[in-house]
Amino acid sequence: MRILVTGGAGYIGSHAVRFFLERGHQVWVYDNLCRGHHQAVPAECLIVGDLEEMARLDQAIIANRIEACVHFAGFAAVAESVREPAKYYRNNVVNTLHLLECLRHNGVKRFVFSSTAAVYGVPDRSPITEDAPLAPINPYGRSKLAVERILEDYTSAYQWGCAALRYFNAAGAHPDGTIGEDHNPETHLIPLVLQVALGLRREVEIFGTDYPTPDGTCIRDYVHVNDLAEAHLLVLEHLQPGQMLRYNLGIGRGYSVREVIETAKEVTGRTIAVKEAPRRPGDPPILVASADKIQKELGWRPRFDDLKKIIETAWNWQHARPRGFRS
Ligand code: UFG
Repeated sequence: MRILVTGGAGYIGSHAVRFFLERGHQVWVYDNLCRGHHQAVPAECLIVGDLEEMARLDQAIIANRIEACVHFAGFAAVAESVREPAKYYRNNVVNTLHLLECLRHNGVKRFVFSSTAAVYGVPDRSPITEDAPLAPINPYGRSKLAVERILEDYTSAYQWGCAALRYFNAAGAHPDGTIGEDHNPETHLIPLVLQVALGLRREVEIFGTDYPTPDGTCIRDYVHVNDLAEAHLLVLEHLQPGQMLRYNLGIGRGYSVREVIETAKEVTGRTIAVKEAPRRPGDPPILVASADKIQKELGWRPRFDDLKKIIETAWNWQHARPRGFRS
């Protein structure tokens, strides 16, 4: 397949690009590099462009005879979305509409979208199935849900084949250590914990120790980026015209913040200083996926099915590149 990957120089996108190329697909990455890294993708695949530049996007689609699009580009920091909602609606919704229109004008009708567990808000059940109420509690989650709605309409009106993949906590790095997570500023738990292990930070804060969970800290479902990458390809291969698929992607098992820190100590063999801090606003106590639907329907199986294996790959990357792609 000839695939356009927007945001392909970002964390999840770059792992997907690597996977698609390994499986023999032809890939063009469309990325403005505002949060992505050019080092994360082969130079010959990269088109530096913004989703606002519709003429450039059009040209990328036509010149490369694109057949399908996997759309990772977007902002994904929850706290930032609360402070700057306009920025999130513009980039995640308006720019996605630009992309959809360029694809539509050029007859591309296969579309896979990066959605998020944040569309469920604070769920009333665990594990979460795809039919749980959609009630996002921040602009980031609402921007992703808005795009899911748009895709439902494109599917029925224009006979597109679409999928929304709702990631739980993406984690880990390519096992060969050449690509991995590199956000600036970093806000995610696992890289922060590993930066403490490396001596780049003094301590990691635990945001909330009074949650209704066995050890009082939040529970999350960490899923390896390579497993996410594989799910995208499986979905792309199964898309049918007039069909909108929605799948949760997680390993179906939750780990508390304290368990993440303990596992990181075990993997790194280093001490990791912690500081107990107040809750971070907007954090649901427990987010664990039921990924039964994609397992049953498409046979997806996470290869990295426990936290230790996931953290080992993240450590391999962080240890080799303590300052990320700048190292
Ligand atoms: N945490 C800490 N200390 C830190 C950072 C995080 O205790 O320094 C805790 C958080 O409170 C949370 C857990 O670790 O309980 C995981 O936090 P992350 O920031 O790593 O990830 P989130 O669960 O907040 O976010 C992820 C995705 C978002 C998505 C969200 C869905 O990164 O894109 O899940 O709610 F929106």
